Amino acid sequence: MAANPQFLTYVDDHKDDYIKRLSDAVAIASVSGNLSYVKDVEAMGEYLVQQLTALGATVEKRGIGKHTLEGKEVDLPPVIIGQVGNDPKKKTLLVYGHYDVQPALKEDGWLYPPFELTPDPKGSGKLYGRGATDDKGPVLGWINVLEAHKNLGIELPVNLKMCFEGMEENGSVNLDKFIESEKDEFFSGVDCMCISDNYWLDTKTPCLTYGLRGINYYEIKINGPDRDLHSGVFGGTVHEPMTDLIALMSKLVTPSGEILIPGVKEMIAPLTDDEKAKFEAIHFSMSDIHGAVGGDVTISNDTVKTLMGRMRNPSLSLHGIEGAFSAPGSKTVIPCQVKGKFSIRLVPNLTVAGVTEHVVKYVKEEFAKLGSKNTCDVYLTHGGEPWIADPNHYSYRAAHKATEAVYGQTPDYTREGGSIPVTLDFANILNLNVLLLPVGRGDDGAHSTNEKIDTSNYINGTKLLGSYMYELAAISKD
Ligand code: BES
Ligand code: MN
Ligand code: MN
Repeated sequence: MAANPQFLTYVDDHKDDYIKRLSDAVAIASVSGNLSYVKDVEAMGEYLVQQLTALGATVEKRGIGKHTLEGKEVDLPPVIIGQVGNDPKKKTLLVYGHYDVQPALKEDGWLYPPFELTPDPKGSGKLYGRGATDDKGPVLGWINVLEAHKNLGIELPVNLKMCFEGMEENGSVNLDKFIESEKDEFFSGVDCMCISDNYWLDTKTPCLTYGLRGINYYEIKINGPDRDLHSGVFGGTVHEPMTDLIALMSKLVTPSGEILIPGVKEMIAPLTDDEKAKFEAIHFSMSDIHGAVGGDVTISNDTVKTLMGRMRNPSLSLHGIEGAFSAPGSKTVIPCQVKGKFSIRLVPNLTVAGVTEHVVKYVKEEFAKLGSKNTCDVYLTHGGEPWIADPNHYSYRAAHKATEAVYGQTPDYTREGGSIPVTLDFANILNLNVLLLPVGRGDDGAHSTNEKIDTSNYINGTKLLGSYMYELAAISKD
């Protein structure tokens, strides 16, 4: 069912009001990872409560415990839950978003003050500001939809449940426990779920996202002498921890990205024809990625291989060495203890535990081969499983139709190389299909300086979220 035309017209007619709403929200510096912004995060939660209440939603602000921020114990930002409609004849849609943002300072290289939404003076329609695309724009998209329906006096085509958190950029602490505890309460009766917190792959092709890679983060710790040593006095006489570590780290992955840990590649789910076809159909050119990384440094020149490298294959990245000498100058030190850090992005059917077993066994065996008298420890510091949804589910079919209606384009079906850990919590705990329905573009610069959302994405995104509700209401569940 196409969206109510009055709704679409209302959105076009209220563009300036919607931009004002985004501007008000961006002005609240809700940085979750920083003690000095605790009050602002709270204020942003309160802003959502006010907005939702004014639009007729039933709203609650829920405390979910405390955490330690910069050494001080503080309340976690509240989870805001809201509901509109409770008609047993309608489907019930759950949406999630986050109202916290990454830090931003003008001095970091912003063109304009990061917490003042600023339209590009050249008239491109870009709206600059922290959180514009991650994730205030999309969250306000849902609120814009509610406002349009309330003011037009039309009912939503579905029952809507909303869950907005203020701790996403800082690890979504305790949200899994909250979902678990509300499974049969607030979250009962939900048919499917939509999260708008990722982006198109490029700048012109809308997409639906049906997978995220997981991540296992590891440390290899080598302990040697009990103090740092002079390399002139002791070089050539002791087993050096850095030498052991470099030897080990060089055995994890090749320069062309091949993971050398036996057993890992073997866990990758076989590629189906249907899956391959989905990658081949994605609108993507090598210049998109060359632009995004600032040069031609790609392992492959093939678009499908590149997309699969990002979305459906595991990858191993070496991140750094704690304890290594890294300052300018030429200090002649033998560091006594070093920690090598690396991570592996996980895809089906790699599991946190299965991969860790292979990693620990291999690193220990390789260390034994070195014949070093130092000690070696290798351990997982955090792990998150990969997530994949059924893109043929009725919720995806509804989003497909909504995208065609709003953009006149067929959406790409993409997977993200990165992680939104709560996606898996919602999917598993509530046993739901989750649709990732992005509003922003691939060049929005989430987390970066000059984060922006294009006015057209924000406005069409509002139409998209609303149209998706209409298509969802009408679509058959099988
Ligand atoms: N919106 C992002 C997730 C994202 C980033 C999706 C890039 C698609 C492309 C989210 O707000 C985020 O930043 N997530 C964190 C999670 C971490 C704090 C556990 C991330 O990816 O680093
Ligand atoms: Mn986000
Ligand atoms: Mn983010």
